[in-house]
Amino acid sequence: MQTTLAFDVYGTLINTHGVLTALEKQVGDNAKAFSNTWRDKQLEYSFRKGLMQNYETFAVCTSQALDYTCAYYGTDLSDKQKKELMSTYRILPAFDDVKEGLIQLKAADFRLFAFSNGAADALEVLLNNAGIRDLFLGVVSVDDIKSFKPNPAVYSHFLRQSKSTGSSAWLISSNPFDVIGSISAGMKSAWIQRSPEAVFDPWGIEPTITVRSLIELKEQITNFEGSQS
Ligand code: 2OP
Repeated sequence: MQTTLAFDVYGTLINTHGVLTALEKQVGDNAKAFSNTWRDKQLEYSFRKGLMQNYETFAVCTSQALDYTCAYYGTDLSDKQKKELMSTYRILPAFDDVKEGLIQLKAADFRLFAFSNGAADALEVLLNNAGIRDLFLGVVSVDDIKSFKPNPAVYSHFLRQSKSTGSSAWLISSNPFDVIGSISAGMKSAWIQRSPEAVFDPWGIEPTITVRSLIELKEQITNFEGSQS
């Protein structure tokens, strides 16, 4: 059976700190801290809304996290400024290694899918704008089942949608909660350690493999699968 790769989007393929330029114009030197708080709170809201079974889209989590971050830092942004920041989120850039890494994996006969908390329409815009949509066989959104990562149901949903199985599928993510969630749900997973300072949660559930760039993935996954046969 061909190996299927599920690529997390925000933070893995797409650089969520791509909003920094827009933020610097609006919040100045505090842009990096503001961006980090915004991303952390966006994810926290997805975890809480999923656990509460009171689902709202990832875009709502992002927008409400922006409101929280403004209140937290006492930054009084107008609705127009917030709309500008939210529209920036829809056209964030891909990391530099992504297109080449995906091209290599597609040429090596891996089945590539994008798999994200984002809603399908937002993902299509984002991936097309980043110039990588055509490299994927499909885009799978957790919005189909109204929950969020790392609910095991979303990984099962991915396997059904991609017509793959846990033993033939990998989750590729820079987010440790996603790597741990997918392994816990029966998939293999590669952690993309996007920075040397990134810490993996000490839970005793380790990534199947760890790489620093998508360029390393083809060789590392092939080596791992070869070692299992
Ligand atoms: C995703 O794209 C939130 O990065 C996570 O699903």
